[in-house]
Formats: sequence, C-alpha cells, structure tokens
Amino acid sequence: MPELPRPSAAAQRTKDYHPPLGSRDGVRLDFNENTFACSPKVLEVLGDVSRAALTKYPEREPVERLVATRLGLDAAQVLLTNGVDEAIHVICQAYLDADDEFLLPVPTYSMYEVYGSATEAKMISVQAGSDFSFPMDALLNKISPATKLIAIANPNSPTGSITGREAIQRILEQAPQAIVLVDEAYYHFYGQTVLDLIGRVPNLMVTRTFSKAYGLAGLRLGMLAASAEQMQWLRRMISPYSVNGLALACLPAALEDESYINWYVHEALRGRAEFIDALQRLQVPYWPSEANFILIKIGMKHREFVAAMRRRNVLVRDRSNDPGCDGCVRITIGVQEHNHQGVEALKESLAEIGWRPDEVKAGD
Ligand SMILES: Cc1ncc(COP(=O)(O)O)c(C=O)c1O
Repeated sequence: MPELPRPSAAAQRTKDYHPPLGSRDGVRLDFNENTFACSPKVLEVLGDVSRAALTKYPEREPVERLVATRLGLDAAQVLLTNGVDEAIHVICQAYLDADDEFLLPVPTYSMYEVYGSATEAKMISVQAGSDFSFPMDALLNKISPATKLIAIANPNSPTGSITGREAIQRILEQAPQAIVLVDEAYYHFYGQTVLDLIGRVPNLMVTRTFSKAYGLAGLRLGMLAASAEQMQWLRRMISPYSVNGLALACLPAALEDESYINWYVHEALRGRAEFIDALQRLQVPYWPSEANFILIKIGMKHREFVAAMRRRNVLVRDRSNDPGCDGCVRITIGVQEHNHQGVEALKESLAEIGWRPDEVKAGD
C-alpha cells in the first residue's frame, strides 16, 4: 500500500469546528444575522451587475479608499477581508510564532481559537466569571513578554457583554509587544468604538463586519483597521482577491444607505427590550446584552428547549459547550415580526418542556 499524504502538523492541531448549518428553514435566531434583509439599494446594485464585473479580477483598493474616508481613516489603514473570519485568520498567520502566546478571554467567538490553534503559538484562555463581565484582572495577570495577540470581541459573543474603553486602553498599554484585536462585529447595536485610536496606538487592530446589521453575511465582507506599519504585513499574507467583485460592488451602496442601518438597529434594540421584558415575566435568567442577541440560561433542559423551539419553526443556538455556559442558549434579535415569533415560541417551548424558574439561576 502506498503511503497516503499526511496533513501538516498545523492542519492536525487546528481545532475542528462545524457550525450547525444545514436545514436552517424557519425564523433564524441562531447565527446573529440580520433576520430580514440587506438594504434595497444593495439589491439594486446586484440586479445591475455587469458582465465586466464578473470577468474582471476584483479590485479592492478603490473601495478601501471609500471605506477609509467614511471612517475617518487613511486608505493605508484599511483592509477589506472575506468576512472578519479572514481578518482573524490573517492576523494569526501574520503574528503568531512558536514561542508566542495568544490570550483569549472566554467564552468568546469560536474562530479566534480555531485560527489560533492552527499556529504554533500557545493559546491561553482567561475565563470570565459567572456574570460574564470582562475578566480584566485575570487577563492583566496573564500578560507576559511572550504575549503576542489578545482578542476582545466588543460586544462579546455569545454573552453580549462589553469591555470599556479604559480597559482596552490599559491592555494596549500593558502589552505594547502584542496585537490587541478589538472585534467590533456588533458595533452598530452598541454604538461605542475604539476605531478613533487607530493610527495613534500602534498595536491596536479593529474589525467590523457586514454580516450582522448590514444583512450581508452571504457576501462575506469584513473590514480590518490597523496602523499602516502593521498593515503591510497583513497585506502580504492575504490573497489580493479574497473579497469578491460582487461584495465590492455592493459595499458602497450598503454604506451609503445609513437610514436602512438605523432602521434595522432600531428594530433590534426595540426587540431586545421586548425580549427582556418577556424573559423577566417568565423568570428566565439572562445576561444583559449590548448586541443583537441575548444569552439565556435554561439549565439541564437546554437541548429539549432548542428542539421545542425548532418544532415551532424558530432556530436558536445551544451554547452549552462554550466555557462557563453550561445550560445556556443564545437567541438572536431581529425585526419585530421575527421577535414576536421568537417570544411566542419561547413561551410555548418552556411550557412544553415543563421548565420551571427554580431549576436554574443565571451564574449557577
Ligand atoms: C465576534 C464575532 N466576530 C466575527 C464574526 C464573523 O464575522 P464575519 O461573518 O464577517 O466573518 C462573528 C460572527 O458570528 C462574531 O460573533
């Protein structure tokens, strides 16, 4: 028997991660997407895509210039990526070597660990306490000369918790030898940013996505901001064509239609308040959220609950396997119609599984 090709050590050590895609018919409150649609202006652009747009290799520089202008940055400080996931991947590839440490407050977004584990760096998780507030002291204690990357989702997923600006500034100061990635995927629902520090603080990187508020998860479009000095290394590592031509054609219209984003964010924030109201009435423990989702605690019956929701055509995400999230389920907030369906399904599902408030308390 000839020997079969062996995967690289990097492939073998990469954490296997399969999000529960497939058969996602129904009200999708499981992936924190926009539950409704993107701006109609984007759909117009898509309808007018020319033959040339498809035959040409995509050119991202002109669109990067436009994004930079809108965000008050230099074009050299902006990189468009194939979703924030690609930005995370490229950062890990560009910065992490064998003797480096990647500090990760957890629970958090899964792809940091996936791409971090592909490198030879040591992954160091810093567990948040039961209220899921940012584990500042624990994180500062773990910073060492070997710390090379720290990833902070702000707001964080799956918890919806935030990290204050002063805390981020302190981390940037305490770890000048490390890239501090502040992932602002849910920025629009929170409204606070550290993007203004780009160019002033050399070790900061900020990411934003078009997959959430903009409703363009299928186009795969993300934005990474960094100092021009660091950006040259990222540009070296990324494929020049990883953002496709359709995504680049749509982005200006998506950015332009601010009233659409404002409307969607307003729907989500109103829905979040309504959901919280329902959770309080039903006495379901939850964590305060600054994003378009809420983490709730169901306890032992979490699987039954997710299945009962699915029977009502509402998809929610079981987060029980995330560190510190035993018995937790994450529910995306979207437009009013979907939120109402979500709240109705929540009430019925809890009744169906015979859930009682005394079965669990948040933080147990
Ligand atoms: C914190 C965070 N960052 C990044 C992403 C992924 O963004 P993108 O779709 O742009 O790859 C997600 C998606 O759930 C997320 O929760």
